[in-house]
Amino acid sequence: MNTSFFKKKIEYSFDKYADKYDSRTILQKEIMFTLLNFLYKEISETNNKKKSQLLDLGCGTGELSSILIKKLNFNKIHLLDLSLQMLNIAKKKINKKNVLFDRNDFDSFYQFDDYNMIVSNMALHWSANFLVFIERILNKMRKNTIFIFSIPDNKSFSFLKKVKLEELINEFPEKEIILKKINEEFECKVYEQTFFEETFSLLDFFKNMKKIGANVSNRPIDVRKLLKLRKYCFKKPIKINYNINFFIIKK
Ligand SMILES: C[S@@+](CC[C@H](N)C(=O)[O-])C[C@H]1O[C@@H](n2cnc3c(N)ncnc32)[C@H](O)[C@@H]1O
Repeated sequence: MNTSFFKKKIEYSFDKYADKYDSRTILQKEIMFTLLNFLYKEISETNNKKKSQLLDLGCGTGELSSILIKKLNFNKIHLLDLSLQMLNIAKKKINKKNVLFDRNDFDSFYQFDDYNMIVSNMALHWSANFLVFIERILNKMRKNTIFIFSIPDNKSFSFLKKVKLEELINEFPEKEIILKKINEEFECKVYEQTFFEETFSLLDFFKNMKKIGANVSNRPIDVRKLLKLRKYCFKKPIKINYNINFFIIKK
């Protein structure tokens, strides 16, 4: 798919549902708190009291940064997202001077060496080319930087694979392939955790994804497969799995 068209679709979709995002995202918040716990653990181990420079990639409504700002000391805070409406919500939440709210594409961002804490929750899988992106950030990371992010992998949504509807969801970067990009210059830990969303119907599952702006496909969709969704209704809710990798990369 044409990259600029894909980006436009992402921007439009997250813009459209931005004002509902916070009230409709339980799972994303659960993943965010898990990520925060990993981050706090790392920080307490290094016990560094110096002020930090924070970059939040695909910050959305700024939930992660707003919690971090209350807990840690920063002399520079940069929230970056493709969606202006998501950033507008973040602005209202983080009513603080010296915060940069930047409508920008992380795929064309280069100044990673201005920060020593780079965070991202459930956003980097939207990259047009994740492996190129990760190489760029690793090349630019300066010493004493922590880069922490959560990202779903291809073990997610196994029910959809079982019923041969996997092409309705995007492909996610594989842990092993990401790890190959991280050389001995870095210290890297990966934690894998599964989260579940319950649903009575597959159609509802996709509708709920749409209602938070996240139903943007990066591959052509066969309409017959979409129609097939309607037949999957259940008397008892089924559990859809999100297999999430938490990467903690330090230089
Ligand atoms: C699922 S939301 C996650 C938001 C937030 N990090 C959270 O934890 O709730 C994904 C966010 O990534 C943003 N995004 C997607 N592609 C992007 C890109 N190429 N550059 C910057 N932001 C992007 C979207 O606009 C959206 O706000």
